[in-house]
Amino acid sequence: MRCSIRCSILRAESQRGAGTWDLEFSKVLAGPESLPGIGSVTEFANDTLLRALLRQDVDYTPVWIMRQAGRYLPEYRATRARAGNFLDLCRNPELACEVTLQPLDRFPLDAAILFSDILTIPDAMGLGLYFTEGEGPRFERPIRDAADVQRLAVPDMEDELGYVMDAVAVIRRELAGRVPLIGFSGSPWTLAVYMVEGGGTKLFARSKAMLFDRPDLMHGLLSKLSESVTAYLDAQIAHGAQAVMIFDTWGGVLTPRDYREFSLDYMTRITAGLTRKAEGRQVPVILFTKGGGQWLDRMAKSGCDALGVDWTQDLTDARSLVEDRVALQGNLDPGILYAAPERIRKEVERVLASYGRGPGHIFNLGHGIHPDVDPDHVAALVDAVHALSPAWHRTAGAGAIDRDAGIP
Ligand code: CP3
Repeated sequence: MRCSIRCSILRAESQRGAGTWDLEFSKVLAGPESLPGIGSVTEFANDTLLRALLRQDVDYTPVWIMRQAGRYLPEYRATRARAGNFLDLCRNPELACEVTLQPLDRFPLDAAILFSDILTIPDAMGLGLYFTEGEGPRFERPIRDAADVQRLAVPDMEDELGYVMDAVAVIRRELAGRVPLIGFSGSPWTLAVYMVEGGGTKLFARSKAMLFDRPDLMHGLLSKLSESVTAYLDAQIAHGAQAVMIFDTWGGVLTPRDYREFSLDYMTRITAGLTRKAEGRQVPVILFTKGGGQWLDRMAKSGCDALGVDWTQDLTDARSLVEDRVALQGNLDPGILYAAPERIRKEVERVLASYGRGPGHIFNLGHGIHPDVDPDHVAALVDAVHALSPAWHRTAGAGAIDRDAGIP
């Protein structure tokens, strides 16, 4: 399977008529350590994201958008149609690279995020992932009992998940240092919810029943997932991811006590186990619990570098909760993108002001972008962040400050 992916990519590349490209391309797939230019030192055109994640001085607030490669872009829909469906798109490293770069070609974003999905791990564990139109993800073989948990094995990152690692390597090569590449995974709790429910859910009936009736079983599942997520993110880092993010989409449905025991403790364990330095640079770790605003202080003690914040939390409050221990990423209401560009600009200004002066802010939405948003509104958002944010940074040149913004 992996060999056929490699061959098809090599064929596609040689059809483009790149003379020495085949040889170089095979090195990409062998891992970043063998690459000229992606060896021990990476020359970045723009490393603002990595600096902000580590709370170092920056000239402006970097911006990227959760789900920036997706259905709101007509070019994404065209590539997905070429691939056949979403999963085949994820499994084709060249096409996954193409859609990863599409939003960067349209907007001056400060980061690329690997195009993939959080459900690749359970799929590789044998649950049989499929997507039905309008219904979202589903599993053919959900986790129902102790035997199901027992059977699960940590997948081989270079084999069953080799297509993800190939995509990381190809994207890194094509980015050529333009902006950093973010790798990602789901949190163990969020993956467990999908695996136990067999797909998306509004009630969490099966996953809550397992948590309360069979906590031992839930912990068994979460332990295997933690091991898998650690290996998965480590492999992405080894293949070229320069920051990693853990999406805990469902942590916010837990009680404070259960959040700690069934979600945060596992993310802390993963964070402690990860490779934190590669290619001579630190690899920042971002944790994002949707609906986790009230727990940011505890999350900040997990050992991560940055926390994602959704739009239900005020960034001023979030910043005082984490006491400048970690950077904060967010938190524009995704719904603002339905409003007119002038209104979007005002809301960007409000979010920048709510974080305040100094480094440690990465601009983003509070959750993924909606599929029916007008791309021109995304352009307005990105431009507003770049135009308005220099005023909030010490090192900003006076010329970069937008006087009309009235700040600070
Ligand atoms: O941010 C990016 O651009 C990277 C790509 C990315 C996708 N999924 C692509 C995708 C990332 C980071 C994810 C993570 C993901 N996947 C999460 C956690 C993030 C979050 O928003 O909290 C979750 C819960 C999933 C599971 C998943 N995948 C769902 C629920 C769906 C259906 C969504 C829908 O609206 O139909 C997916 C499919 C998916 N993942 C799409 C994309 C672009 C849409 C697929 C398509 O129809 O083309």
